[in-house]
Amino acid sequence: MIEIKHLTKIYPSKSGDTVALNDIDLTIPDGAIFGVIGLSGAGKSTLVRCINMLEKPTAGSVVIDGEDITAVKAKRLNLLRKNIGMIFQNFNLLEQRTVAQNVRFPLDIAPRYSKRSQKDSPVPFRVDKARREERVKELLELVELSDKANSYPSQLSGGQKQRVAIARALALRPKYLLCDEATSALDPTTTKSILALLKDINEKLGVTVIVITHEMKVVESICTDVAVISNSKIAETGKVAEVFSSPQSDIAKELIIPDLIRAIESEGGKKLRLIFAGDEADAPVISGLALECGVKANILYADTKNIDGKSFGHMVIAVSEEDGQLEAAKAYLLRHNVRFEEEL
Ligand SMILES: Nc1ncnc2c1ncn2[C@@H]1O[C@H](COP(=O)(O)OP(=O)(O)O)[C@@H](O)[C@H]1O
Ligand SMILES: [Mg+2]
Repeated sequence: MIEIKHLTKIYPSKSGDTVALNDIDLTIPDGAIFGVIGLSGAGKSTLVRCINMLEKPTAGSVVIDGEDITAVKAKRLNLLRKNIGMIFQNFNLLEQRTVAQNVRFPLDIAPRYSKRSQKDSPVPFRVDKARREERVKELLELVELSDKANSYPSQLSGGQKQRVAIARALALRPKYLLCDEATSALDPTTTKSILALLKDINEKLGVTVIVITHEMKVVESICTDVAVISNSKIAETGKVAEVFSSPQSDIAKELIIPDLIRAIESEGGKKLRLIFAGDEADAPVISGLALECGVKANILYADTKNIDGKSFGHMVIAVSEEDGQLEAAKAYLLRHNVRFEEEL
């Protein structure tokens, strides 16, 4: 588990300090695929770089599996860091080395065992050459690139490069994988395949994945939990199903449902937002309103999905302002256990 407590990061400069993170509290449970979304400049990359101490926090702490990594000595930190893999938007591969050599790199430079300082290592110590080669083979199979072992990065597509980076990040069997805009440079089809791979890694290897992104679709498609970051602070956090179906903060509403906001602004009538978070029904609502209680309702916006016969998402309807229509609609929704919000 990663516990971020009162984390503040200030970048000082002569022309004025930048507060990139302002008193952040966040808990990332083991086994999660945890999304962090926000606009550019919100502080996402700074947050993820503080989790592995690439950036030293100005104040606060990052506690990983009970150990405050902002307080440990350099040697210990170096070891703990190896339990946290990281991938980036621009892949950061070693261009002069082959795919296999890139993946082998962390194994080649893994710490050697020394009783005094490294007895509680969370990751494997350096193993002999034959076992390193074996591990590389295994990793390339995992990311489906066995046939590219001897290629150079320049010979690969973006998606393949990211697969190499993922294999390399997993070489030492880390418990955590940080992904900073890992799919932002990829086309939609490649993005899908990389996200599917990350999900697989989470499920099969039990790696906790932290996904930093400005793309809502990424969070929606693989994350279990999400934190929305805005102006250096956490605006909102929770389960994806909950936050995406019922965002509370202005920034989350704007990020998650911009079309909805436009729809609401452009139409007359009384608006209701219906929320489906795994409930039984959605489509019959409009016909039910008309048939059962004579309410005229228009769908202004709908973004619902059916997963295993249950509905997720939301729908905004406009109800006629004629006398009694809104009350009748609300009574109908209550009778049918459909969650709704009036204040949009
Ligand atoms: N190394 C740095 N030095 C100075 N300012 C920085 C540095 N890195 C980021 N910042 C500033 O901190 C804020 C947050 O940046 P960042 O964490 O990169 O946001 P995001 O990843 O959400 O786009 C921005 O205002 C950015 O300009
Ligand atoms: Mg960033």
